[in-house]
Amino acid sequence: MALESISIRNLRNLVEIHLRPQQGINLIVGTNGSGKTSLLEAIYILGRGRSFRESKSRAVIMKGKPWYEVTGQIRDSGISTRIGIRRSAREITVRMNGTSVRKLSTLAKQLPIHIITPRSHELLEAGAGVRRRFIEWGVFHVEHGYQRLSSRYHRALTQRNAALKNQQDIHALWDEEIIELAGSIDRIRRGYVEELSRYLEEEMQHLLDGQQVRLEWRRGWDAEQDLGESLDRNRSADLSRGFTHAGPHRADLVVRLEGELSRQWASRGQQKLIVCGLFLAQTRLIRERTGKRPVILMDDLAAELDREHRERMLDRLRVNDSQVFITATDAGIFSNRVSDVMFHVEHGAMVPDGV
Ligand SMILES: Nc1ncnc2c1ncn2[C@@H]1O[C@H](COP(=O)(O)OP(=O)(O)O)[C@@H](O)[C@H]1O
Ligand SMILES: [Mg+2]
Repeated sequence: MALESISIRNLRNLVEIHLRPQQGINLIVGTNGSGKTSLLEAIYILGRGRSFRESKSRAVIMKGKPWYEVTGQIRDSGISTRIGIRRSAREITVRMNGTSVRKLSTLAKQLPIHIITPRSHELLEAGAGVRRRFIEWGVFHVEHGYQRLSSRYHRALTQRNAALKNQQDIHALWDEEIIELAGSIDRIRRGYVEELSRYLEEEMQHLLDGQQVRLEWRRGWDAEQDLGESLDRNRSADLSRGFTHAGPHRADLVVRLEGELSRQWASRGQQKLIVCGLFLAQTRLIRERTGKRPVILMDDLAAELDREHRERMLDRLRVNDSQVFITATDAGIFSNRVSDVMFHVEHGAMVPDGV
């Protein structure tokens, strides 16, 4: 699977860009402010429906323009699919092969994508929600039907929380459904994390000289109790705070380096490598299970990793046969063999090589 072409219009300083990337490693070079991160942002939006650096689309739309648009041609097992997204301040339009589609998840299914940025270590340092979403994103790609389970769970949870806020007697009203859905959700997530751990171990052998990184899944309620017991035990706390304290919506992924919490123990550099390892592991898992090869974006790689680890990361990406987009201010920081193709961006436009 690869992106064969990308077109971008009115996105930050990118007026109109057309790109035909390669299957392998694509290097994007330009000075500060030329539009490199914006280019990655556009590709990311095509796969995820939203930016990684901005929650409001208004900031991403080129100043003075009513909307931005990103379209792309994806080739997967010989089949070409055209996907596109157009966003104004108020509206979002998604198209697949010329037809409007209602759900953003339709885009996401077509183009699994990860980005490594200078803030990637936040996956380990931020709250549980970030890690839960990381795991759920992977599960979404490999487990058919998970999304439906998850939506049903969240609907039931929202109703339960609304009842709690109104001080209604919630007993048994939603709990039965919540308990059943929670069990299925947790089984799927746990299986996924176990599988991910195996790939991670291998990636860390390469990236961290075999230092041990282990994953632990905290399911979101007491390990010793079933969820029914936890809900009963928390009932008065739930009523007084107006929300449900136990359940898969409180799950977390614990990442340990040499047995210690990596959030506290690992250096910033090690954290970045662990995150790279997690992304690589997830990429491989998705590939094994679906045949799709997630696209990897790496913003300002030189600022992120030292030369030795950059090379190791690139080697792993090659072994994975991933399509990769890397930005840099200076092509010279990479050894010659690194990229399969190089693009130059200047003032929001592509410039032909040799200029
Ligand atoms: N909504 C916007 N409209 C127009 N230009 C923007 C908008 N948002 C940011 N910019 C400009 O886009 C330029 C490119 O930014 P960026 O892609 O981050 O550059 P870099 O190449 O350093 O990664 C910057 O000069 C920035 O000021
Ligand atoms: Mg940048």
